[in-house]
Amino acid sequence: MKTRWYKDAVIYQIYPRSFCDGNGDGIGDIRGIISKLDYIKSLGVDAVWLSPVYKSPNDDNGYDISDYRDIMDEFGTLDDWKEMIDGMHSRGIRLIMDLVVNHTSDEHAWFVESKNKDSEYRDYYIWQKGRGKNGKKPPNNWTSNFVGPAWEYDEQSGEWYLHLFSKKQPDLNWENPKVRQEVADICNYWFDLGVDGFRCDVITYISKKDGLPNGKLKFPLIGDENYIVGPNYHKYIHELNERSFSRYDSMTVGESIGITPDNAFDAIDESVGELDTVFSFDHMGVDFKMNVIPAKFNLAKYKKILNRWQQLPKTCQPTIFLENHDQPRCLPRFSGDYGDRRELAGMALATSMFFMRATPYIYQGQEIGMTNCDFKQEDYKDIMSVNALNMIKKVCPLLLPYARKVLLKRARDHARTPMQWTAGDNAGFSTAKPWMMVNPNYKEINVEDSEKRNDSLLNFYRKALAYRKGKDVVINGDFKLVYPKSKDIFAYIREYEGKRLFVIVNFKNKQVNFKIPKDLTFDNCALALSNYADTPQTLQSMKLREYEAIVYEL
Ligand code: GLC
Ligand code: CA
Repeated sequence: MKTRWYKDAVIYQIYPRSFCDGNGDGIGDIRGIISKLDYIKSLGVDAVWLSPVYKSPNDDNGYDISDYRDIMDEFGTLDDWKEMIDGMHSRGIRLIMDLVVNHTSDEHAWFVESKNKDSEYRDYYIWQKGRGKNGKKPPNNWTSNFVGPAWEYDEQSGEWYLHLFSKKQPDLNWENPKVRQEVADICNYWFDLGVDGFRCDVITYISKKDGLPNGKLKFPLIGDENYIVGPNYHKYIHELNERSFSRYDSMTVGESIGITPDNAFDAIDESVGELDTVFSFDHMGVDFKMNVIPAKFNLAKYKKILNRWQQLPKTCQPTIFLENHDQPRCLPRFSGDYGDRRELAGMALATSMFFMRATPYIYQGQEIGMTNCDFKQEDYKDIMSVNALNMIKKVCPLLLPYARKVLLKRARDHARTPMQWTAGDNAGFSTAKPWMMVNPNYKEINVEDSEKRNDSLLNFYRKALAYRKGKDVVINGDFKLVYPKSKDIFAYIREYEGKRLFVIVNFKNKQVNFKIPKDLTFDNCALALSNYADTPQTLQSMKLREYEAIVYEL
């Protein structure tokens, strides 16, 4: 039943609110996506991961769902959605939907009912009596990932409910078998409508430790260990796999904080029947301390983390991504001061990721090298940025300038500025004023301009993906880092049944010496891909130019 098609797939992530506006109200939507399907196809990707399009009051841009079986009004209708998936399938593109089931919206009918103590839905959520006199203190010290306590008091029933994200995102109670069956039913509903898989939002948070014990508070008060990969996590996912995922030729990818190379086997090995793949975030932490404080990017550390995933058994499929809707843009993070070599730097990053043993993800705009945005305080729209700024204003206004500096590097908003299609009004994203500011650099950085130039980053993505497609050595080959300690060069060799690929990437905006490793022998060598027109045709010791990126077949 399972073909495991994702092993040779490249997946393109769409954040619908910011992708393309089809009806001129300033908000991206499904008709906008339909109008860009040929573009998506032209990239050479195999599937789309679509961030949530379900009914939602948009406290967290669709990650707060009020009806799992219908489409958000701003995005269109179920008929639009059906036209979209048909359009994808007829082009050979699969569709991965976002599955947000750690929590619902507080406007979901279950939660509205659940506020009534006698309702059969009470137990769908995590309700607790408070501590202290009159129960006016939250049941434990857990904090929300969006700042502040993870509990909200409800006057009506005199109890508190848990919300690991905003207070409009109450956590579902997965201990309740009815909740687990509801989730399986939701998945099967969409599978039966043709979807090909799910990206499972904060899925490692679903099982909370028995008794909800206090956590160790640590700065920045997120990542509490008492709900990450909790006691029943594997049981619940295994059950969901049995009831749903395994019945279709599907693929799943978990947003899996807490899954590391040390415990990945139990979470994703083909033998365990849980998720097919996970996103891990350790490599995204290399240029931040404690996930928020900007730090210098260290390539050696970065490679070490990725290499551990590469060395897992072949029955554990890694993923690789440099961006998503929660992350700042990759260029300013990993390429240092790229100056006017933005596109070369983007090609270097792309080359480094596309030839690993992994399912790669491209986030909208990454393929044209979109960058972070120079936001002013009032430009931030994301609930996480807004809450953080408000909290600091209240608690310690002196820290405000520092907080702004951090947000300029770290805010999720950077990924959410509208997609830059043209140099025209609103970057061609919409005929109306967009819901969020367009990055002013859209006049230089846009799809229209990239299409015109053969040597653009966009066309390099196409070349790289076309070259990658169907290659056994990319899908199955062993992975070996070359010069693992180098802080300038990311180089590796892939090998499968006598075929080898040698990937060499200069991560720096300066020339760097590269020496053929002493123990490497080869008879034949052919240049397969490079981002400079005159890269040597055969592998040799050389001076790599700024951001030079090369793939040789040996
Ligand atoms: C995930 C999503 C993020 C969302 C959060 C809560 O981390 O990627 O955008 O805010 O879950 O649903
Ligand atoms: Ca719209």
